[in-house]
Amino acid sequence: MPCGDNRNKAKKGRGISMKKAIIKGTGRYVPPRVVTNHELTQWMDTSDEWIRQRTGIEQRYWVPEGDEIGPSDLGLEASRIALKRAGWTPSDIDLIIFATMTPDVYLPGSGCYLQYKLGLDTTPALDIRQQCTGFIYGLTIANAFIRSGFANRILFVGSEVQSTALDISTRGRDISVIFGDGAGAVCLEGVETDEQVGIIESTLNAQGEFASALIMELPSSRLNPRISEEMILEGRHYAFMDGRSVFKHAVKRLGEVAKETMEKAGLSAEEIDLFIPHQANLRINQAFARSINLPEEKVFNNIQRYGNTTAASIPIALDEAIEMNLIGNGSTVLFLALGAGLTWGAVIYKFAD
Ligand code: COA
Repeated sequence: MPCGDNRNKAKKGRGISMKKAIIKGTGRYVPPRVVTNHELTQWMDTSDEWIRQRTGIEQRYWVPEGDEIGPSDLGLEASRIALKRAGWTPSDIDLIIFATMTPDVYLPGSGCYLQYKLGLDTTPALDIRQQCTGFIYGLTIANAFIRSGFANRILFVGSEVQSTALDISTRGRDISVIFGDGAGAVCLEGVETDEQVGIIESTLNAQGEFASALIMELPSSRLNPRISEEMILEGRHYAFMDGRSVFKHAVKRLGEVAKETMEKAGLSAEEIDLFIPHQANLRINQAFARSINLPEEKVFNNIQRYGNTTAASIPIALDEAIEMNLIGNGSTVLFLALGAGLTWGAVIYKFAD
């Protein structure tokens, strides 16, 4: 099935300017297999205590072994929920944006797989590769598409299957204990309104200078051959992370970008009802809260149950926060993240009254 010719679709919303991008529905999905910290000790030298103390994580979800489940499958489940809550059918979608760092295959993008699984014919689908900052970049892209009139109804999905690419031996323990699988989906619609609602401010950053701080190198087009047995034996097909460096960057950059984005929006921290950071490490989020003097209850955390689900972590957290009535009509939320690239950013979103 081809990915589609988007020229016709592109005309759909053209000519309508300066709409606000409003969240119409959210959904989340995790695979049924729960993997506790204790379970990890059968494969690697680690402990429940070490993982909880350093990261806050108690468990994560992994796809069942041998079932060929990719991020487009998890994304499909999350999308079905979000679409239902939005009152949309798949044919209402003008554009799919799919954020993942673990695509179903090297190419094509997972958005195309999701598009087909939703039963769509030629609806355009765009993959983005912004890792843990995927939700922040994706929301900003969706907002730009909606405001330009290019698309009016966007299905935005963040989804990851990371467990199938983890080195679960002791060699990979600093990374493998952190990551989990899952998906979150958001239906965004352009709405003509004078009110200060929807995506009201965003800040994006990247600093390629630190690309090697968090990297999965193989298969690599700059190598010839792209992958070899020797490289695999060296473990270069697994992610490498300089954890301490990423930690330090995160604490510094998250505080900076939150402040910058609030300043641009003319809002103080008191006017933000809930901060929803990417879930990389509970200690990072606690240090971020301290760095800008936020009370801990203003910062949403659910990493304890999910681990780090990369591009899925913020949409999963958003869906849970809505379900828990922590946010709703009239609330102002600040989303923020830092991840591989390095990339980092923040978005302020206000729910309509
Ligand atoms: N279980 C037990 N011991 C472990 C371990 C594990 N899973 N992983 C590493 N260790 C060991 C190390 O080997 C090291 O041992 P040593 O002192 O004998 O050499 C010791 O624990 C400390 O390792 P270190 O890497 O310095 O720990 P840390 O306090 O920096 O915590 C992270 C490691 C990964 C939890 C932390 O650096 C982190 O969270 N960084 C940010 C990660 C992140 O946000 N990534 C995603 C970005 S989106």
